[in-house]
Amino acid sequence: MTVEYTERGMLKYSEKLLERFRNPKHIGEMENPTVVAEEGDPQCGDMFRLYLKIEDDRIVDAKFLSFGCAANIATGDMTVELVKGKTVAEAERLQIKEIADALGGLPLIKMHCAVLSYKTLKKALAEYRKSRAGSVSPPQG
Ligand code: FES
Repeated sequence: MTVEYTERGMLKYSEKLLERFRNPKHIGEMENPTVVAEEGDPQCGDMFRLYLKIEDDRIVDAKFLSFGCAANIATGDMTVELVKGKTVAEAERLQIKEIADALGGLPLIKMHCAVLSYKTLKKALAEYRKSRAGSVSPPQG
């Protein structure tokens, strides 16, 4: 695996990723979300929390908090951006590669940081489905 570093010995990220890290658009907490999910990465010990507001099976708002690295903040922000406004079914089809591609790529050794936000999204959507399944009224008659 080739890992690129800057002349100052830091891991080399794309400009898009660095811009997202410096100016995330969707970071923060949310009052009264439909669902909140949290995941941790056993590899690095970092955490990621995702809030989704869902109306009529559409993600009308989303926010996140990252307790992780620059790559996690950037991939988390992009994850939110890619699912905001989408239906739950569309969000369920999102792939990790789409998140990395939207950031101009990600060093392979940092892919687990994208996996963390992706896994949290999957968990939040699964919890939403579960809560909906529980609220469906049994057939009458
Ligand atoms: S190193 Fe832990 S999320 Fe990136």
